[in-house]
Amino acid sequence: MIEKLMDKVYWIGVTDWGIRHFHGHEYSTHRGTTYNSYLVMDEKIAVVDTVWDPFQEGFLKNVRSMVDPKKIDYIVANHAEPDHSGSLGALVEAAPQAKVIVSRRGLESIPGHYHENWDFQAVKTGDTIPLGETTLAFVEAPMLHWPDSMFTYVSGRSLLLPNDAFGQHYATAFRFNDEVDREELYEEALKYYANILTPFSPLVTKKIEEVLAMGLAVDMIGPSHGVIWRKDPLQIVHKYMEWAKQVPEKRAVILADTMWQATMRMASAIGEGLAEKGVPFRIFNMALSDRNDVLTEVFRSGAVVVGSPCLNGGLLPTLTPVLEDLKGLKFRNKVGAAFGSYGWSGENVRRIERELEGAGIPLAVPGVLVKWRPDEKGLDACRDLGRKVAEALR
Ligand code: FEO
Repeated sequence: MIEKLMDKVYWIGVTDWGIRHFHGHEYSTHRGTTYNSYLVMDEKIAVVDTVWDPFQEGFLKNVRSMVDPKKIDYIVANHAEPDHSGSLGALVEAAPQAKVIVSRRGLESIPGHYHENWDFQAVKTGDTIPLGETTLAFVEAPMLHWPDSMFTYVSGRSLLLPNDAFGQHYATAFRFNDEVDREELYEEALKYYANILTPFSPLVTKKIEEVLAMGLAVDMIGPSHGVIWRKDPLQIVHKYMEWAKQVPEKRAVILADTMWQATMRMASAIGEGLAEKGVPFRIFNMALSDRNDVLTEVFRSGAVVVGSPCLNGGLLPTLTPVLEDLKGLKFRNKVGAAFGSYGWSGENVRRIERELEGAGIPLAVPGVLVKWRPDEKGLDACRDLGRKVAEALR
């Protein structure tokens, strides 16, 4: 389905209702996604970004329903990740006369994926390509979220096409932010930021300040996933500025796993201590929870409390992925604590503490390690840990 966005500008992307795991199995997509591609039909014709190759047939059909591909002058590839460049080869084959516009880093990443000698033209921030009434202007955005990432601005239409930035994995029957459920939209936008962009937060702030300083009018923001920001488009830019500061809410998240409920009883007691101090919390059993949803909750929370029983001198392996993410996503402004039960060796709590410290999350309080099942004294120690974590929350 094609959607006219403004005079001479169209959405020609595809909706992927069925996808439930993205980046292989790294990111859960409960609400599907879209791969957004844009067509500018001025005196010159440009396509900005393509779609993931399993959808290339529908995408090419969209292109052909609008224009003979042989008339396309420019194909802009803002970013090499295959969800946007996967149909580039098919489009170049149909439009062999078109120049392929990439960022300077894209000159490495696009051929690095496709090993083709297409007619590339590398652009840098400030470069422009006039199309007629409209002009494409480029802003390199390295590490938002790959080194090659680039924004394309359609001047004459005040349309910003920032590729992955401001996106959401969110398939809907509609195209624009004012047509969908706001709560769902922000849930997906926050999950996207928390799981993908958090480690690049300082660069997000810098890039947004740079773009705002350019004084560009922005009437619409068309990211490469999800809905297009048409109503009050800068709302998501301001949200990104806020999220990039990583100022968490006064709430806590308890991540744990358990074999015979000893560690989970400790988790509940920690929760009681938090609640006593008025701090809302959520407990996630990491064997049963969606990692990306948990990480979104971690993003919001000022405290991360992690628990595991001791297994083979270490942790239950269900905790390992989220600990890896805590490190990789570089969450800031949080405090942490550890807890767990053990039978004989008891290295688990110290191990978790090292992981938290290694992730840049300082310990609010020494961890609680309980032998076998916690008795009332052990549970009291957990309640006290909860209270102290609550007090440490800024
Ligand atoms: Fe970085 Fe949507 O790909």
